[in-house]
Amino acid sequence: MKKADVVLGLQWGDEGKGKVVDVLTPEYNVVARFQGGPNAGHSIHFAGQSFVLHTIPSGIFRDGTINIIGNGVVVDPVILADEIAAIEAMGVDVAGRLRISKKAHLILPTHRIIDAASEAAKGKAKIGSTLKGIGPAYMDKTGRNGLRVGDIVSPQFMERYERLKNKHMELLKQYDYDYDIAEYEKEWFEGIGTLRRFELIESEYAINDLIAADASVLAEGAQGSMLDVDFGTYPFVTSSNTLCAGVCTGLGVAPTHIGEVYGIFKAYCTRVGSGPFPTELFDETGEKLRSVGREFGATTGRPRRCGWLDMVALKYAVMMNGVTGLIMMKSDVLNDFETIKVATAYELDGQRIDYFPYEAADDLKPVYREFEGWNCDICNIRKYEDFPQAFREYVEFIERETGVPVKIISVGPDRDETIVR
Ligand code: GDP
Ligand code: IMO
Ligand code: MG
Repeated sequence: MKKADVVLGLQWGDEGKGKVVDVLTPEYNVVARFQGGPNAGHSIHFAGQSFVLHTIPSGIFRDGTINIIGNGVVVDPVILADEIAAIEAMGVDVAGRLRISKKAHLILPTHRIIDAASEAAKGKAKIGSTLKGIGPAYMDKTGRNGLRVGDIVSPQFMERYERLKNKHMELLKQYDYDYDIAEYEKEWFEGIGTLRRFELIESEYAINDLIAADASVLAEGAQGSMLDVDFGTYPFVTSSNTLCAGVCTGLGVAPTHIGEVYGIFKAYCTRVGSGPFPTELFDETGEKLRSVGREFGATTGRPRRCGWLDMVALKYAVMMNGVTGLIMMKSDVLNDFETIKVATAYELDGQRIDYFPYEAADDLKPVYREFEGWNCDICNIRKYEDFPQAFREYVEFIERETGVPVKIISVGPDRDETIVR
């Protein structure tokens, strides 16, 4: 029996999970999303084309792979139907490759409105949510009010939809927020129609049967460990468990059936939305990372905040996930820097600390270790041995600090720009 491997982000999201999952998919029979929803934006580049996936697993472009949207995911039928249509237009047999868990929760049009109204009411304290209705949908899930994908075939579906929508409209009265859902609601029901064309499954049985039959499964995380609802920079987090533990609850895979845990990180650090980011740069270096790395959100287009690699946060994420292999992305973005810095500790109230504190406020100062930059173009390198000495020193420092090997290095957005060690 094979074990399910996992790919997940170790920072604040956008590490390059889409690219890596697409690269690894040929080695797997199944790719499954276990949490999050259309707040995710996973970019894939191949054959001169690029694509951003929000709900569909990043294995969809590989023939012969089963892609599963697991029970832990929240689904907006409008966004999913748009994704399906766009991929079908590329000639991909999406219905043949995609299965959706009946237990995945639905994001209603009113969830989006509540998300927007709640963010607007927070003013300066806003989370910087993607406004896709993620938080409100998970609230209804844990509050035991939610509608699930499996409910769309029930004769009571309309009645239950109306009941929940009315509840949301009552809730919205407490906000001074104008809205009109008529247009979105129409598209939403069209999206529900699209979902009815797909195989809606008990994904926990399907995945465990596949594992028992020796199929290889890759679980694809969304967001990143520092956005985890329990261990991230709360309240500036998303509303799901982005950590490896989320694979167990979001797919029904037992902990004993988890194999490799691949943790992805950028060679530097980014964050989109509000919240603590100890190594954030507000100077021209940060600006340079943003422009060279094209750091603009794949879902919202917002400029991403940029800074140096944070080893304290990275080690925290490695610990929480039980990472067995590291994947370093966007190494090429650092091609042209005289010096590269990595935070190895923080200073708080004049004291040096080496853990991620309960509250990472503005007075938390990173303690940096400096590295000589490699100052050359590494995009065309395909063998680890061919990397410049300074680059290898950077990689080997990260391996020593985390105690985990860097197994894959990415030097560009394309499938081919990948070095597997
Ligand atoms: P995800 O959410 O983790 O899948 O990451 P995103 O797709 O939101 O953001 C990663 C961005 O970096 C995308 O635009 C990718 O095409 C791009 N990318 C991925 N790997 C590399 C790399 O090694 N080098 C460069 N320059 N870009 C990369
Ligand atoms: P991928 O999968 C980066 C951030 C938002 C916001 C916070 C809460 O592409 O890495 P939410 O919409 O979940 O209520 O937003 O989390 N966020 C992400 N940041 N990448 C993502 O996904 C994100 N999904 C949510 O910017 O700060
Ligand atoms: Mg993204």
